[in-house]
Amino acid sequence: MIYIVFAHPYPSQSRANRTLLDAVRSLPGVEVCSLYDRYPDFDIDVTSEQAALGRARLIVWMHPIFWYSVPGLLKHWFDKVLTYGWAFGDGGSALHGKDCLWVATTGGSVETYSATGIHQRSFADFTRPVEETAVFCGMNWQSPCILHGANEIDKPALAAHALQLRRRLEVWLAIHGEGASEKAGHAP
Ligand SMILES: Cc1cc2nc3c(=O)[nH]c(=O)nc-3n(C[C@H](O)[C@H](O)[C@H](O)COP(=O)(O)O)c2cc1C
Repeated sequence: MIYIVFAHPYPSQSRANRTLLDAVRSLPGVEVCSLYDRYPDFDIDVTSEQAALGRARLIVWMHPIFWYSVPGLLKHWFDKVLTYGWAFGDGGSALHGKDCLWVATTGGSVETYSATGIHQRSFADFTRPVEETAVFCGMNWQSPCILHGANEIDKPALAAHALQLRRRLEVWLAIHGEGASEKAGHAP
C-alpha cells in the first residue's frame, strides 16, 4: 500500500532519516526498500521494483539532500525503474493516479535557503526536477515533507517532526487504506 524508497548511502550513520524511517516503518501496509542496503553494487532489480510500485498506492522517496538533489543511487533508481512504456510514454501508465510523497532532509537551515542565505534561493527552487519526475509519470504530487537543519536539530524537535510524518501517513491510510471505503460506506 505504501512503498518507501529509502536512499541513504550510510543508513547506520544517519540520524535524521533513520529517525523518520523508524517512525513510520511499522505502520500497516508499509513496505520499505533501503536502496543502498539492497543494491550496494547499484545493480537494481527492475522487475522487483516495478512490482513493488505496482502494489503501492502511495510512493515515498525518503533521503538526505545531496548537492541540491537526490543521492546517486536514487537517481539511478529513477533512470532504471521509471522506464518508457511502463512509467511514461506509449502505454506507460503503471504509476498513473498513485500518490507520491517526497520526504527529504537538508543540512542547511531554513535561513540558508533564501535570497540572502548561503544557498541564495528558496528550497522550492531546487525541488522542480524531483516533482516533475513524479508528475511526468502521472503521479499525484503531495506537499513535500522537508526537514531543514537536519544536522543541528535537537532530539525532541526531530522526534516531533517524525511524529508529524507518522500522523500524516496514518491519515493517508485512514482515507486510502484497506477497508477505508467499506468503513466510509458503513458510517453510522
Ligand atoms: C555529499 C553530501 C552533499 C550534501 N549536499 C547538501 C546540499 O546540497 N544541501 C544541504 O542543505 N545539505 C547537504 N548535505 C547535508 C545533508 O543533507 C545532511 O547531512 C543530511 O540531511 C542529514 O541527514 P542524516 O542524519 O539522515 O544523514 C550534504 C551532505 C553530503 C554528505
